[in-house]
Amino acid sequence: DLTPSSPIGVFDSGLGGLSVLREIERQLPGERIHYVADTANVPYGDKPIEVVRSLALKLTDYLIESGAKIVIMASGTSTAAGLDAAKQKHPAADIIGTIDSGARTAVNASAGDIGVIATNATAQSLAFSHAVHAIDPKRRVAEQGCPRFVPLVETGRTECADAVDASLEYLRPLAAASVRVIILGCTHFPFLDTALRQAVHDLNVRDFQPLFVDPAAETVRDVKALLARKNLLNPAISSQSSVRFDATGDPEEFRRQASMLLRRDAGPANLLRLGD
Ligand code: SIN
Repeated sequence: DLTPSSPIGVFDSGLGGLSVLREIERQLPGERIHYVADTANVPYGDKPIEVVRSLALKLTDYLIESGAKIVIMASGTSTAAGLDAAKQKHPAADIIGTIDSGARTAVNASAGDIGVIATNATAQSLAFSHAVHAIDPKRRVAEQGCPRFVPLVETGRTECADAVDASLEYLRPLAAASVRVIILGCTHFPFLDTALRQAVHDLNVRDFQPLFVDPAAETVRDVKALLARKNLLNPAISSQSSVRFDATGDPEEFRRQASMLLRRDAGPANLLRLGD
């Protein structure tokens, strides 16, 4: 049975979901978190949508079976590919993605055109465009696939010349489209913040000063409201938040990379074999 001390389940193809984990720790201190990194299968963004859907379903099943009180698909690609299927499969469970919340934040942040940077799979699915148009049908949305980004984050190269070069490549078309807001449509991308800002500066396009929107904050606000409605919030009186990490790839490697991005020791990760 689910109780306030049941964990919040989070999964991602790898390290990107740590931007959501950070936000849970900020907004919901005291919550237990069960984070699964599917590092054996990263990157998701270059895989066919059916493959990502099947991985997303497996990870959702696992987190629900392990007792998670809510599952966050902390990956734009998983959300685009698998959120509807997972909700159909588990009608009684609370499963939440990052796309609706990202779209809502962008629409509320500006009346101007919206850009989306995401993996190829997410950009091609047009999931963010659909989510924006469900709120504001007239809003113009430009989606940009960014296949170079996830490998840079997964290997800790978030501030190198390559990261700035890739940012220049992906922001140039959005500058030409004069977007005012850019949704970080993949949870890996907030870690590229410095490189993205450098690229905006280097592009030096008049009036191109986009506001970058990280869906994590709004996603966690939604999680908080949902848990509150169900009396499942864990009060942060005495407890410190605690995280259990599972990785489908090398757990030591995950610990090293996660510690770098979190700027603290992430602690040990367990090896998870998902099976067929
Ligand atoms: C990826 O593995 O390609 C990134 C998944 C995502 O956050 O969209």
